[in-house]
Amino acid sequence: MTSLEPEISRLRQDLGPRLIVLGHHYQADAVARHADFLGDSLELARRLSELRAEHIVFCGVWFMAESAAVLCKPEQKVHIPDPGANCSMADMAPARLLEAVLEVLSAKGRRIIPLAYVNSSAGIKALCGRMGGSVCTSANARTMLAWALEQGDGALFLPDQNLALNTARALNLARDRVRVLDVRGSGRRVDLAGAAKADLLVWPGCCSVHHRFKTRHVLSARAGRPGVRVIVHPECRPEVVEASDAAGSTSQIIDYVKQAEPGSTIVIGTETNMVLRLARGHADKTVLPLAESRCQGMARITEAKLAGLLKDLDRDPGVQIPETIAAPARTALERMLDVCRASAGQRKAGT
Ligand code: 13P
Ligand code: SF4
Repeated sequence: MTSLEPEISRLRQDLGPRLIVLGHHYQADAVARHADFLGDSLELARRLSELRAEHIVFCGVWFMAESAAVLCKPEQKVHIPDPGANCSMADMAPARLLEAVLEVLSAKGRRIIPLAYVNSSAGIKALCGRMGGSVCTSANARTMLAWALEQGDGALFLPDQNLALNTARALNLARDRVRVLDVRGSGRRVDLAGAAKADLLVWPGCCSVHHRFKTRHVLSARAGRPGVRVIVHPECRPEVVEASDAAGSTSQIIDYVKQAEPGSTIVIGTETNMVLRLARGHADKTVLPLAESRCQGMARITEAKLAGLLKDLDRDPGVQIPETIAAPARTALERMLDVCRASAGQRKAGT
């Protein structure tokens, strides 16, 4: 226990029910232990509508705090211990570039529906909301991509090419109907003839944490471990997903480990903090990282920065998003929650 634990507890006690702390599973233990609720992107977004606290402190990266600020009530404020905690993948898709690329793709009247992974800026989500599109998380990418493909003449998935290609495969989309775009030069390099033949257009972004894993990591995880199961996040390269036994979002990976037989060995391809926490929580199983891979953005949130923020919470302006961005971004996020609710309802009813 560091000396900051008692200080944070005292600050939390002073703030009482005015404060709630949310954390993403990729946070280090020193921070994660202060979270009232630890979740993946979808769980955290869903949780927001139930929260009554005046201050929501988000221990995650910037785009997550932005989404929370878009979804929270007007009387609530969202804070992040370090506003510089960025997601390198979200940074690969600036809103102005998406606007330019969509303009190029729609030049001949083709209606392209943008579908953004939640790992993107509020500006990107706002564009999706305005253009009839939506957002998705890794837990609902399949449902949302199937939905997007039905809405127009084609869908543009961004920013993660790996999640797009893995989801397209899971939906049995023919490979020649899927095209990864060259978005350099404000969309001037887009091969329009090639794009016209595709139903799914893919932004060329990736996650530095998951793109690091290679097929050789899967092969060495299997070597000398008969019966081992390898499970990876769908932000991994398609060939890594194919070489593995299963792919799933953060919450699906957690469920997989929970349900595994005692004594089993599971090797996991995702952020190291989460894998090590899972290993400690399941001492009856052997849980190992596929390779060490940590998120630099998530690591910017430290216990010291959390303590500093809580000390001066009333003076922190919180995450500010102009309503011209927040309103259409909210439309995109709420569309996702509605589509998922409807699809869960249909599954329950067996239709
Ligand atoms: P999920 O939380 O949706 O699994 O996404 C993983 C991730 O990379 C978060 O930044
Ligand atoms: Fe972004 Fe990848 Fe870090 Fe998630 S793990 S925040 S996608 S860089």
